[in-house]
Amino acid sequence: MRVVFLGAPGVGKGTQANRIAAQYQVGKISTGDLLREAVRNRTTLGLAAKSYMDQGNLVPDAVVIGLVREKLADPSCANGFVLDGFPRTVPQAETLGAVLASQGVALDRVVNFQVSREDVVRRLSGRRSCPKCQATFHVDFAPPRVNEICDRCGEPLVQRSDDRREAIEMRLKVYDEQTAPLVRYYDERRLLFPMDASGAVDVVFQHLSQELAPYRAT
Ligand code: AP5
Repeated sequence: MRVVFLGAPGVGKGTQANRIAAQYQVGKISTGDLLREAVRNRTTLGLAAKSYMDQGNLVPDAVVIGLVREKLADPSCANGFVLDGFPRTVPQAETLGAVLASQGVALDRVVNFQVSREDVVRRLSGRRSCPKCQATFHVDFAPPRVNEICDRCGEPLVQRSDDRREAIEMRLKVYDEQTAPLVRYYDERRLLFPMDASGAVDVVFQHLSQELAPYRAT
């Protein structure tokens, strides 16, 4: 299974990528998670990426392409992968295609998550995450058992620095300008699967899981 989850910030790509990767035993590559890990570890790459991320801009292509190349070679991706948040520009998509072709493989499907702008803003502004184990919650849609405390490790939850209103606006603008062209790019290559992701998490998961079942490793 080699799939890409495409869609605006906050449509639920990460939530579903975790579940699909667990169900089908494939690797999950989230460039957002990899970059946030680099920021937390204060690596050179993380320090360089932080200001782009905080403002809601994209990190330069060369940086994220390097991260993804490394991860694709990881044993966790031996059965395939779900790419969450990559590619996000046409040059990233072209590089991904070339890397896979050099391995004699290709993408199976690109799922385009679709949710109204109003819902996206609501999902992003209510998101909370655990700074220790990175679990994600939502104040209304996936609240923790104890208010603002992680269910798994008891840490106080935090709001991502790019989930502030100004950063959300910038991320949506950047999505429209730089990432939305990938919808056409993958549609022309007959890989696109448009998916209504406005329902509850379990409903979206059921639909997605059925769509991706033909691509599971045998
Ligand atoms: P990244 O972390 O990839 O952010 P994003 O694409 O903006 O996506 P999000 O993580 O915000 O949302 P999501 O769609 O995963 O939604 P989630 O499942 O969390 O990237 C962050 C930054 O890193 C970028 O801005 C950029 O700077 C940089 N970057 C990353 N990749 C890059 C690349 N390829 N190139 C260049 N730069 C890159 O859900 C959101 C909330 O909604 C949660 O609270 C969740 O609980 C809730 N929720 C989920 N599903 C549902 C549902 N069905 N119903 C109700 N609530 C739901």
